[in-house]
Amino acid sequence: MSHPIAVSLTDDPASLPDFPQQRHCPYQPPPGYRELRRAEGPVVRARLYDGRPTWVVLGHTEARALLIDPRLSSDWSRPDFPSPSPRRKAIQKATILVGMDGEEHASYRRRLISSFSVRRTRELGEGIQRRSVELVDAILEQGPPADILSALALPLSSYTICGILGVPYEDHDYFEAQSAALVSPQVSEEQATGALMSLRDYLTSLVERKEKEKTPGDGLLDTLVSRDLAGGTISRDDVIRLGIILLMAGHETTASMITLSTFTLLQNPEQLAAFRADPAGGALAVEELLRYLSIGDVAMRIAAEDITVGGVTLRAGDSVMLSTAEINRDPAAFERPDELDLARGARHHLGFGFGVHQCIGQNLARAEMESALTTLFTRIPGLRLAVPPEQVEIKPAQSGVQGIYELPVAW
Ligand code: HEM
Repeated sequence: MSHPIAVSLTDDPASLPDFPQQRHCPYQPPPGYRELRRAEGPVVRARLYDGRPTWVVLGHTEARALLIDPRLSSDWSRPDFPSPSPRRKAIQKATILVGMDGEEHASYRRRLISSFSVRRTRELGEGIQRRSVELVDAILEQGPPADILSALALPLSSYTICGILGVPYEDHDYFEAQSAALVSPQVSEEQATGALMSLRDYLTSLVERKEKEKTPGDGLLDTLVSRDLAGGTISRDDVIRLGIILLMAGHETTASMITLSTFTLLQNPEQLAAFRADPAGGALAVEELLRYLSIGDVAMRIAAEDITVGGVTLRAGDSVMLSTAEINRDPAAFERPDELDLARGARHHLGFGFGVHQCIGQNLARAEMESALTTLFTRIPGLRLAVPPEQVEIKPAQSGVQGIYELPVAW
């Protein structure tokens, strides 16, 4: 039996490799992670941008064990909670739900569950399919070239968030424009902050409007207002913060998955041919793309107590980063892990996380990806990249959500 090694995270941080590291190819994990796993095992040490040492989890078994371990905390309100980048540090001020532990986390999550039920997802799915067709038709009408991120992925994901929250149809254009500004590479940090502030103001006035409505609609904000706010079990500010967190968690992620999936399929012509030949296999294909691309790389945690895992002991207060991209390529969990195999059918990937914080919007995200990709590739059979693949610019590793800035296509 191997004994845990008693290394301390404070040992010589200057000699540690950086975390996170940059992808060299938009759909492959950074090669340095593989080298680290081979050299040091499933749980290794690295250094964050601010010089702080961290544990990095690269093994699938170890990640699953840790993500259900209550000794590993997601409490973003702790001043010592680690962050992989300054941008994430800023976002971590919005602690509600994602940045909470235990009963506090569960109490907020329970309030959201009914809005993500199978029935609600199916209802929203019909609108998502219609919107995908409209967007792809608009691409066709405008003619080549087109950017998949701004012409399809971003508007579809903000349309879906509108549906989930219960944003009235006449406000969709405003909501879409502001939420696109949050993640667009063309806008400055200041403009992005401005867009977030105006979305917050918009959600505040929307909540006030919904408080006056006699018959509540079927959006999440309607439910929170009519059931929880009216019942005095939640504050108005909490309702708004939950709206913002859904926007932040569900918008860029899904848009990035649709864009990167399109790029990856165009770069894998045999798999694309199989996908085109059998659009009914769309659900399986989406699952494999989620595993293969793992854009939500990384999950951040802090050890609240000492935990022994993968042959090492994490000490209370240690930073823990889980690289889902490398975890989803662990050969102990997936055969031929580096091969994109759309028929694989492996659902035990961690593309949506695992444990109590596992993605609440995952079925909606699957519906969006499947609608967007099947509509795009069936309505535009001759779709191809409009630039050489090496000109497609990869977002920096520290972005949090991995992806590309734009995807110019022609046909
Ligand atoms: C393909 C797109 C998406 C990906 C890859 C993704 C990925 C993830 C991951 C990895 C987590 C776990 C984070 C952690 O453990 O720290 C998560 C949580 C979450 N996601 Fe998603 N997500 C996607 C789409 C969405 C959508 C569409 C929504 C909502 C409309 C959403 C809402 C959330 C929320 C609220 C949480 C936090 C849940 C909690 O803490 O209890 N996500 N997501």
